[in-house]
Amino acid sequence: MEKLAISDLENNAAYQNILSRTSIRRFADREVDGALKEAVVRAGMSAPSGVNMQPWEFVLIDDADILQALADALPYAKMTAAAPFAVAVCGNESRFLEGEDSTLWVQDVSAASENILLAAHALGLGAVWTCLYPHADRMKAASDILSLPEGIIPFSLIPVGYPEKEHAPICKWHPERMHRNRF
Ligand SMILES: Cc1cc2nc3c(=O)[nH]c(=O)nc-3n(C[C@H](O)[C@H](O)[C@H](O)COP(=O)(O)O)c2cc1C
Repeated sequence: MEKLAISDLENNAAYQNILSRTSIRRFADREVDGALKEAVVRAGMSAPSGVNMQPWEFVLIDDADILQALADALPYAKMTAAAPFAVAVCGNESRFLEGEDSTLWVQDVSAASENILLAAHALGLGAVWTCLYPHADRMKAASDILSLPEGIIPFSLIPVGYPEKEHAPICKWHPERMHRNRF
């Protein structure tokens, strides 16, 4: 069998999508089709999770007043005001594991958040992960604005829209950080 070279992956769309994703914080003044919004949330729900608990809930926000209220309340998510929609990724306490695994939900909703970023990029959209959890003030603001019930923990807020302009991704490949077999 021929040896695979990295250059062989140049035409691999899924792989290139991962490498070319970058955070988008400025959005074009353009609506996003409802089917695309749902597709983005569906990608979040396709993430892996510990014991397949899927301990998450997603709030799809496309009401301009609510997007503005989130931007006003969240100092590191100001770009939400200009986004056509955003997804709040939340943990659902009733689906959290117990004991040593009780914090696994954080990994699960992180995987869901990354899936959303990658799906948005694959669909020609741009997105940025903004941080709610574990900041109590940001979580309280998001809970109040989104009317989250008891036991639903706001984790990340991801504004999504068509990018205002193209952005080159940051190159993060540091071969010296890849260790073989032992560190
Ligand atoms: C856990 C986490 C929290 C983040 N919080 C914020 C945030 O609150 N506001 C923001 O503008 N970007 C936030 N980011 C985006 C990072 O700044 C961004 O991913 C990083 O600078 C690398 O850039 P890239 O996404 O373009 O590769 C967050 C990313 C992660 C993974």
